Amino acid sequence: MKKIIVLISGSGSNLQAIIDQIKLNNINASIECVISNNEDAYGLIRAKESYINTQVINHNNFDSREDFDQKLIYEIEKYNPDLVVLAGFMRILSPIITSKLIGKIINIHPSLLPKYPGLNTHAKVLENKDIIHGVSIHYVDDGLDEGPLIAQGEISINAHDDIDKVIERIHKIEHDLFPYIIKLICNNLITLDENKILYSDDIELNDKNIIYKKYDI
Ligand code: GAR
Repeated sequence: MKKIIVLISGSGSNLQAIIDQIKLNNINASIECVISNNEDAYGLIRAKESYINTQVINHNNFDSREDFDQKLIYEIEKYNPDLVVLAGFMRILSPIITSKLIGKIINIHPSLLPKYPGLNTHAKVLENKDIIHGVSIHYVDDGLDEGPLIAQGEISINAHDDIDKVIERIHKIEHDLFPYIIKLICNNLITLDENKILYSDDIELNDKNIIYKKYDI
């Protein structure tokens, strides 16, 4: 069974989707700890309700990003995790973290990267009248929302979609795709070798050699 650490900053609905799939035995893993930089993150309550260890490391208590990252990697390494999952963790991580977790740390981002790294992705999609939108799951390196892409999920934007509707639809596909990818990683069916992602032969890939799902949600 793989050991997972989940990092969150907010609501934790993706954390909940992962917890649910572990409880259903669909992911062969245990969440050793949920760590948040925000003591008010609702995801901490979700974790406690499932009897999962939690820890708050408030970035405001540190003089620099480097000091915060040193503390974070120190706490993460205590668990010797197989996988660190960024599930709505809204901090940029420096090489202090990323260099130690190469191939073991993944992030979900609410856009079809490389479009719209950073914040306010849904507003940008609507402002630009994009007709498709989606989510990306990638291994983390020291760029902002960068690193080798593992999978993307796509939705069409409907004429009547407002931002709340888009967020709701994006969350639905995140809650399907993220646990699925975590399951594959925990089953050693996806690994990172140097900068190249290796997929098990029976996983279907698109022409960019990533998992790509179009959702009718
Ligand atoms: C998710 O939509 C996730 O893609 C996004 O934060 C949200 C967290 O929701 N992550 C990023 O923007 C990272 N750059 P949740 O707390 O309900 O899981």
